[in-house]
This record gives sequence, structure tokens and C-alpha cells, in this order.
Amino acid sequence: MKADVLLGLQWGDEGKGKVVDVLTPRYDVIARFQGGPNAGHTLEFEGVKHVLHTIPSGIFHAGKVNVIGNGVVIDPVVFKKEVDALLQRGVDVKKNLYISRKAHLIIPTHRLLDAASEAAKGQAKIGSTLKGIGPAYMDKTGRNGLRVGDIEHASFKSMYETLVAKHKELLGHYKYQYNLAELEPAFFEGISLLLELPLIDSEYELNRYIDSGKAILAEGAQGSLLDVDFGSYPFVTSSHTITAGTCIGLGLAPGRIGEVYGIFKAYCTRVGSGPFPTELHDQTGEDLRKKGHEFGATTGRPRRCGWLDLPALKYAIMLNGVTQLIMMKSDVLSGFRTIKVCTQYKYRGQVIDHVPYDVVNENIEPVYEELQGWDEDLMQVRDAEQLPVALLRYIDYIEQATGLPITIVSVGPDRKQTLMRKVPA
Ligand code: GDP
Ligand code: IMO
Ligand code: MG
Repeated sequence: MKADVLLGLQWGDEGKGKVVDVLTPRYDVIARFQGGPNAGHTLEFEGVKHVLHTIPSGIFHAGKVNVIGNGVVIDPVVFKKEVDALLQRGVDVKKNLYISRKAHLIIPTHRLLDAASEAAKGQAKIGSTLKGIGPAYMDKTGRNGLRVGDIEHASFKSMYETLVAKHKELLGHYKYQYNLAELEPAFFEGISLLLELPLIDSEYELNRYIDSGKAILAEGAQGSLLDVDFGSYPFVTSSHTITAGTCIGLGLAPGRIGEVYGIFKAYCTRVGSGPFPTELHDQTGEDLRKKGHEFGATTGRPRRCGWLDLPALKYAIMLNGVTQLIMMKSDVLSGFRTIKVCTQYKYRGQVIDHVPYDVVNENIEPVYEELQGWDEDLMQVRDAEQLPVALLRYIDYIEQATGLPITIVSVGPDRKQTLMRKVPA
């Protein structure tokens, strides 16, 4: 057996949570490999909406193992809230959730540092989710971080104090006002909860699962265009959001990766700052936001909206080694007379079809092709064969352009609004 991966090909919020939940019955283990509470993964079924931040989206299926891998950063405060919300809805997380000892902790001063750093940047801010992601990964690579495994040691409190002392110096440098005493009780309550859960050496466990024929699905967070190396730096997150991040974030060798499901919206959205070549500042952008309810699942911020960007999509496909595509939110495009697709960019007086190095300071103008839209409401469609002809043409167009099959088409937020398409032999 190999581990399959499902990850976002755009700027996040593609609908990863929904599809992981739909695919979970095919797998034994669902594992998160990077990111942390900056993620907001929405699942909807039986009329109820659930938003997960740190916990894998397989958690609602009894008998499936869910693993938070070493590449994830965990905020015990957010984590406890998530666990409590699930318990209230009758999901006993303690039965099937395992946490890597090597995952790093987000401590309250990481959140303060995130806020201080963003405030100091002013107009140039990243538009971070303010969850402490950047500072926590900085401490990880700077070799100052605290790991989940540390909480099992008697010296944890003093390790924590040492790191906090470093952070206080930095916060002083930013001249940032804060009240740490207010934040610490919730943090230590979260630590107590973590101690009640099975902490594991997840790299061994996951490789053992594969050896014993168990099927693993790795769930990405954020999106490929937010990857710290390949995204529009510095307007990125601080982790590796691409397939390679799965190997690092779970301890799986590259040869152990199987299918790579690349998930994208039928259009584009981005939340936070940074370049977005196909962004629409007009009524069409407004219509997409309204119809698609494009407001962040973690921060509630309005998402920026625009047309599908093929050069960026192909870039993400290349970086990830995508084997099949999943198209989300097709229903949102119903009612647009025409649909535009960016096929190339105008850049420094030339027409190009790759993503150039400097996307931040240089102007990138999209070159569009226009396709016919459709009027039919898709929310009730349950069979991919029943989709409107113009949408089938749109699907065919993207398949031709990318050379990959679109095997799942999503037509609404609910589990049931997920259409499986036959993979050509
Ligand atoms: P994730 O971060 O990739 O898991 O995605 P989010 O949950 O942040 O954002 C996706 C949003 O779109 C959520 O509100 C979902 O409920 C919703 N959604 C997912 N698929 C569809 C779809 O096919 N159509 C519509 N209209 N909404 C969808
Ligand atoms: P999911 O998993 C969309 C964006 C932030 C900001 C940048 C850096 O739900 O798709 P960070 O807090 O990571 O330092 O912020 O990345 N961002 C996301 N955008 N979906 C996400 O996660 C995101 N996680 C981070 O808005 O622009
Ligand atoms: Mg999200």
C-alpha cells in the first residue's frame, strides 16, 4: 500500500475538508502533515456544518484512525476548543485521534509575536491568520521550539519559561503591549488535555500501517500557492504545503506516496495579502463572493475572488505530481453568461505561460479565453452525466489544458453534493 495525498492547488480553502470526509470510507488512516490552526476545513452533512482546524477531517467516521503528524504546529488552546466542540456533537475524539510527539507547539507568545510582526509591517503585512504559525515554525527551524513530546517531561514548565523569556525580549523590541497572564491558563488547560490523548512516534506508526496493507490519506492544509518556497514569497504561509511536505510532515519516503489528488475551485479565491493575477475588483468578483459565501472559515475575512488561473494551476500540478483533479464549487458558476479562464500572462511586455520569479513587484496581466456559461442550478444534481453541456465543456477544457482527469466534481457544500466521474482506463 502507498499513502495517497489530497492537497490544495490554489491559495487554500479549495474544499479539502469536505472531500477528505467524503473519501474517508476508502481509507483506514487520515493524517494531517503541515499547517496548524491557520487552517479552517469545513464539512457539512445531515444539515450540520463543522469546522476543523487541527484535527483531520476523517474524525467523523467511527473506526478510522486520525493522526496529527510531526509537520503540524498545534495550539493547545484552539485544539481544546475543537475537541470540546466535537465532544458536544457526540464525537469521542479520544478513541481515534493520535498525535505525533514531534509536532511543535504554538505557545501564547507565538500568537503575540505574530500580531506584533504584522503590526510592525503596516501596509506590507502578510495578512496572516494571527494564529502564531510563522513564529512557531521560526522557532522550529531556529531550534528553539517546544514539541508535543516535551510535555511528558518534568522539565516542561522550565523549557516553556526559557522560550517565553526569549519571546518577551522580542516583544519588547516590537514595543508590543500584552497581558500574558490572561492567556496562560487556557494554554495549560490545553496541555493537560493533550496529555490525556495518545502521543505517538507517528513516523513509525504510519510506516507500519503501510507495511501492514492499511490505506492512508494525507490531508493538506492551505494551498500550493501559499507554499513557503514556491508561493508568492513573502505572502505565503510558513510550511511546505506541497506533496513533498507530506514526506517531511509524516516521515514517509517519497516512494511511499501513491495517488495525489489536486483539489481546486472552479474559480480562484485568496484571503490575506499578496499577488492574485485574475482577481476581480468589479461586480463579477462581488457576485462570486456572494454566491460562493467566500468568507474565511478561520478568520471570517472576505475572500478575494477571480477567474481560474491555468498557468498557476499547471505550476501547482507540476510541483505536486498530481495524478487526478477534483473540481469544487462548480455550482457557484451557474448563472454567469460567460466564464473566463486565464491561459497566459502578459509580463514585462511578453506573453508567457509560466509563473515568473517576481510576482510581487512586477505587474502580471492575465490573458483570458472566454467560455460559454450555464444557467442550470446544480445543487440537486447527483450524477455527473446529468451536468449541463456547457459545464461538461468547461471540465473537458481544463482536462485538455492540464492533461489530467477531473475525477470528482463538487456541486454544493454537503457530502451528498459530490459527483464521482469515471477515470478513463
Ligand atoms: P478547505 O480549507 O479547503 O477545507 O475549505 P474551506 O472549508 O475553508 O472552504 C470551502 C467552503 O466552501 C466551505 O464553506 C465549504 O462548505 C464550501 N464548499 C465546499 N464545496 C463546495 C461546493 O461544491 N459548492 C459550494 N457552494 N460550497 C462548497
Ligand atoms: P486552509 O487549510 C486560506 C493565508 C493567510 C495569509 C497567509 C499566511 O483552510 O485552506 P499564516 O497565518 O499561515 O501565517 O498566514 O496564508 N492562509 C490561508 N488562506 N486557507 C488557509 O488554510 C490558510 N492558512 C493560511 O490568509 O495570507
Ligand atoms: Mg479553509
